[in-house]
Amino acid sequence: MTTAPLLDAFLPLVADLTRELPEAERYRRLLGALRRLLPADAAALLRLDGDTLVPLAVDGLSADTLGRRFRLDEQPRLRALLAHRGATRFASDCSLPDPYDGLVEGLSNQLQVHDCLGCPLYLDERPWGLLTLDALDPARFDGVDLASLEAFASLAAATVQVGERISALTRRAERDERLMQAYREAVDRQGSHELIGQSRAHRRLLEEIAVVAGSDLSVLVSGETGVGKELVAQAIHAASARAHKPLISLNCAALPDTLVESELFGHVRGAFSGAVSERSGKFELADGGTLFLDEVGELPLAVQAKLLRVLQSGQLQRVGSDREHRVDVRVIAATNRDLAGEVRAGRFRADLYHRLSVYPLPVPPLRERGRDVLLLAGFFLEENRARLGLRGLRLSAEAQAALLAYDWPGNVRELEHLIGRAALRAMAGGGPRRILSISPELLDLPGTADGEAPAAATALAAASGDLRQAVERFQRERILAALEAHGHNWAAAARALGLDRANLHRLARRLGLR
Ligand SMILES: Nc1ncnc2c1ncn2[C@@H]1O[C@H](COP(=O)(O)OP(=O)(O)OP(=O)(O)O)[C@@H](O)[C@H]1O
Ligand SMILES: [Mg+2]
Repeated sequence: MTTAPLLDAFLPLVADLTRELPEAERYRRLLGALRRLLPADAAALLRLDGDTLVPLAVDGLSADTLGRRFRLDEQPRLRALLAHRGATRFASDCSLPDPYDGLVEGLSNQLQVHDCLGCPLYLDERPWGLLTLDALDPARFDGVDLASLEAFASLAAATVQVGERISALTRRAERDERLMQAYREAVDRQGSHELIGQSRAHRRLLEEIAVVAGSDLSVLVSGETGVGKELVAQAIHAASARAHKPLISLNCAALPDTLVESELFGHVRGAFSGAVSERSGKFELADGGTLFLDEVGELPLAVQAKLLRVLQSGQLQRVGSDREHRVDVRVIAATNRDLAGEVRAGRFRADLYHRLSVYPLPVPPLRERGRDVLLLAGFFLEENRARLGLRGLRLSAEAQAALLAYDWPGNVRELEHLIGRAALRAMAGGGPRRILSISPELLDLPGTADGEAPAAATALAAASGDLRQAVERFQRERILAALEAHGHNWAAAARALGLDRANLHRLARRLGLR
């Protein structure tokens, strides 16, 4: 054979190199060119994966061939082809079994392969895979010059290498783009800030964060709505050895069931309608860092099973792909549901629950953090003051007492929004560049009619709900009022309340006021 047909066969492939083609399509075209060049009934391109040959593209062989895996220790022919650096043609009476016997298409009565030719592909001086050609007619390859197959094999190796490099770069560019987007979203969510508080419950939380951050354990952050679960997850990541790698968040409740899986694990092009391009999932983006699974209790059961598998093996597959990626990800999950209860109700997998809650971290509600309410109020007041360009923004003593007496079903987020609204109302009452004071009316705590004293508000709230809570609320409010009235002198307040000082201290501690 002259070089002209070889070049004719190869030119379109060289042109393909500059086009953006999926890997599989690139390999199919390669085999197509090979079959135009040589008179075979079937051709295959196989990649060497450890001790196994994996078909990447086949031409003229039944479609199921792509799903087969040929172990070298069971395939003497393939082993012989790989063992010889150049092309090899087997004698037609060679007794070694052919891996493609019965797989050549369109010839149901003649199943035995008779003429067989192959050549290994080398990349960087290492065997990368094999090209094989088969014919049912024992003399088909008589006129074939093995050197031209070898030439094709080296050009094919170059194609494979360039193709793989392009795919790797495309994947990296896509991943970087998604990472950038995740960072932008994190910034839009205002990023993280310090956890404010001094109460004993708060200090205990900080200690737990410090302990668990140093490990690589999965953490399950639980707590009522708005207690700061996301902030806690950010604090754990920031204090961990993974801090210089990304913290990637996925809100499991924010996506329809059908999309959660591809958001987590990614997908390949065409995996489902709408999957127009390949996309990496949050797991891959978080590689080396932390994945925050918010509202994990909302995860559909089918996805729970897949998540468990990835957590156990560290291997993941994009939706629609059979390729495995190894990932190194620490998972922090959060929920405001009683996840153990969800397990009992059959809505959450017990095995996944145990895998996620290796270190359970409950975040206490605001009503158990005593005077932290005032510290947090100060933090949000300062934020609002700066945002609104005010000289000063403060709470009146009555407003402070009202905040301390309130029950905070919406926790820190509720407090944050309440302060924001009160600051706006205070602004409406006076010009900028002034020191504004927020009174209880401006706080507009739920259950407080305009102008009513907080005492009336709590009495109203106490009229409904649990008796013990109502009593505690009343005690809290009376103690705070007595403290206010006596300039925060505990002895005087105790006298006014008809209590022993030590008893008042004990009670105040139990109520979270100290
Ligand atoms: N200790 C804290 N110090 C300062 N800000 C806090 C603290 N805890 C919570 N916040 C703020 O309160 C708001 C609610 O917190 P976050 O979103 O973390 O709560 P969550 O528990 O995740 O709520 P949800 O259950 O609704 O998802 C956020 O703006 C957060 O920054
Ligand atoms: Mg949250």
